[in-house]
Amino acid sequence: MQIIAKTFHGLEEVLAKEIKAIGGKNVQVLKRAISYEGDQKLLYRSVYELRTALRILKPFYSFKTKHENHLYKKIKEFDWVNQFNLDQTFAINAATASKYLNHSQYLALKAKDAIVDSFREVYDRQRPSIEKINPDFRINLHLSFDNICTLAWDASGESLYKRGYRVEVLEAPINEVLAAGMILESGWQKDCALIDPMCGSGTILTEAALYAHNIPPQIQRKQFGFMKWKDFDRELWETVKREAEERMVKCEVPILGFDKDFRAVKASTKNIFAAELEGAIEIEKIAIEDLELAEEKAIVITNPPYDERMALDDVTAFYKDLGYVIKDKLAGYTLWMISSNGKALKQLGLKPNARKVLYNGPLKCEYNCYELFKSGKKG
Ligand SMILES: C[S@@+](CC[C@H](N)C(=O)[O-])C[C@H]1O[C@@H](n2cnc3c(N)ncnc32)[C@H](O)[C@@H]1O
Repeated sequence: MQIIAKTFHGLEEVLAKEIKAIGGKNVQVLKRAISYEGDQKLLYRSVYELRTALRILKPFYSFKTKHENHLYKKIKEFDWVNQFNLDQTFAINAATASKYLNHSQYLALKAKDAIVDSFREVYDRQRPSIEKINPDFRINLHLSFDNICTLAWDASGESLYKRGYRVEVLEAPINEVLAAGMILESGWQKDCALIDPMCGSGTILTEAALYAHNIPPQIQRKQFGFMKWKDFDRELWETVKREAEERMVKCEVPILGFDKDFRAVKASTKNIFAAELEGAIEIEKIAIEDLELAEEKAIVITNPPYDERMALDDVTAFYKDLGYVIKDKLAGYTLWMISSNGKALKQLGLKPNARKVLYNGPLKCEYNCYELFKSGKKG
């Protein structure tokens, strides 16, 4: 079967690598998504094990269309009544790149009408209900720029960034999928310490520990979209979970988090506990300027305030001072930093060795790598 994994802009390559590693065939990089082929087991594995996927979709119906009435007719023709029952709820998520039908909300409405009308004809005007928050079935409608409309079942249910461990958040938390992507993008080989000196609610650290121990990112989640499908194979699903758990490993590398704000220490401690990772991560309340790190080798991945969701009095001065502190306190380490404030990043006075554009929600960010040499002169 064809499978589509959706992700954030900029994470396509790391997601493609993850998919290949679990056996995806014919892997093709699309815009904010990867298309690949696999069987039912790979579909379940994708939902359970991919760290950088937001949603896993299974396309089931496609046709060419340029007109709303034609779209309605084609969708109504599909055999909906054998896919789900009257008493089950559904939701439609639409996206379009077509110049003919360019209003995604309207397409979702048309598709919904077509589906409920096909039920009404069979069940004497009775129809299934729409449920936006927690539907039994999520249907994804995608209309491409060349007017191919594809309908896909959403195997994930709620978005996969909802891992289930984040019980407390502060201002400006980073998305879990983005944090996992930043770790994979950094190329961390789990052979040295991983440090986040401005850890907030601890998302980067938690994702790092899950990755280090090869723990499936969805180990806490109990509900996924595919569980409502008629072909749900519980035995296969139990096998997928058991095999993933057998692949978990012990990893002794230090994963260290710091923050100057006591609330951040409290929130990250709670989240780490919820993720059952206590003992795998150490958190301390300390400002970056006061850090005294003993690690010989480390990779530092961090998400400082950008002056967007977390306000700063003087963003230029903050980044300028941060630059001095980094050269002093993190010398000898590799630093990866994400920020939406490109101007402020320049104030660090560091030359990136690598740059990448990522999105933190709607915010376009630079994700830069700095090699911080011991002399403090280069980097
Ligand atoms: C954008 S938040 C980090 C969010 C985090 N990645 C998460 O997922 O929750 C930035 C964090 O930097 C911390 N911070 C700001 N200045 C700091 C400093 N000088 N030393 C240590 N932490 C600092 C703030 O307290 C805040 O928790």
